[in-house]
Amino acid sequence: MENRRRVFSGKGKMTKDKEIKDILEKGLFKGDIMFNERMSAHTSLKIGGPVDIMVVPEDPISLKIVLTAASRGKVPVFVIGGGTNLLVGDGEIEGIAISLKAFNQIEKTRETDESHIGLYIGAGVPLASVVGLARKNGYSGIETLVGIPGHFGGAVSMNAGSFGTEIKDVIMSVAVMNMHGEILVLNKDEINFSYRSSNLPEGAVILSANILLKKDLPEEIEKRALEFLDRKRAAQPLGEASAGCIFKNPTGDSAGRLIDAAGCKGDRAGNVEVNEKHANFFINKGNAECRDFYKLMEKVKSKVKKQSSIELEPEIKIIDSA
Ligand code: EPU
Repeated sequence: MENRRRVFSGKGKMTKDKEIKDILEKGLFKGDIMFNERMSAHTSLKIGGPVDIMVVPEDPISLKIVLTAASRGKVPVFVIGGGTNLLVGDGEIEGIAISLKAFNQIEKTRETDESHIGLYIGAGVPLASVVGLARKNGYSGIETLVGIPGHFGGAVSMNAGSFGTEIKDVIMSVAVMNMHGEILVLNKDEINFSYRSSNLPEGAVILSANILLKKDLPEEIEKRALEFLDRKRAAQPLGEASAGCIFKNPTGDSAGRLIDAAGCKGDRAGNVEVNEKHANFFINKGNAECRDFYKLMEKVKSKVKKQSSIELEPEIKIIDSA
């Protein structure tokens, strides 16, 4: 799988885990630390084996302690966001999974003029809460993103989008922490946002972003949000165990349309199924395994290739130590 992340393995793993455990438990780290935590409890797909270490830092200093320790020990880290765009392997996952759910502040920043409003959003705020706040207060610009699950940081990292709007359209700046624990604030023009990617530097962990929304009548925004939600409900299996769209749309076409046209709807591998409503959604029908997910992805790719000569590329992030 092209974007499968190969993570640390090999000699000294136990020692490194112990060193990191000591650093976290004896130092200034504040937050939760879990060992051998099953990732299936943290992904919308409900798939994923136990990760060596999972941390929920409470503040930037604690995050810095995790990142610098990992960097020194050459231990891989990955941020799980809301776990909604993530496929995690069945076996033991090596490294440190980071949840930023404690980075959950939303604050008004500035009104550049009478017609706009600025907001500071922490990476761990659910995107749905940001959209909900905008709907309630009459802030326009992200009502098209209604119904997208996951955390705001993940939405920025993936440049989430729907109905012609992408998160980049409202971004002013993004604060990130690098693997040395340094905080950098990047203005929008310094970030090379593209379709479903922010192209942030390797290892940069998103802490927060500032966005700018336009004031509008709350009832007008609400009306539009409900229309978008209806369209989404009609087209997508919201509420089922999925990771959203599995493959990126090739230029000028829809991966869902191509998968459908290749006759894949209802195709299965184990307990993973190509959804009947939207073919670019694969559903965990109950206790599905990552290995079945891979099989189904390969099967769908090859049927689409045969039918339309198009090579689909995964949109989801894959974490696997296999
Ligand atoms: N279609 C089919 N069969 C299907 C699915 C779609 O024929 O099974 C057809 C539809 O009838 C329509 C066309 O394909 O004519 C496009 O479908 P849709 O409007 O559902 O949009 P999409 O291109 O499949 C994209 C994004 C979604 C986003 C929607 C709405 C990607 C990979 N997908 O889907 O984003 O919600 O537009 O804006 O970019 C995601 O990123 O996870 C995601 C779900």
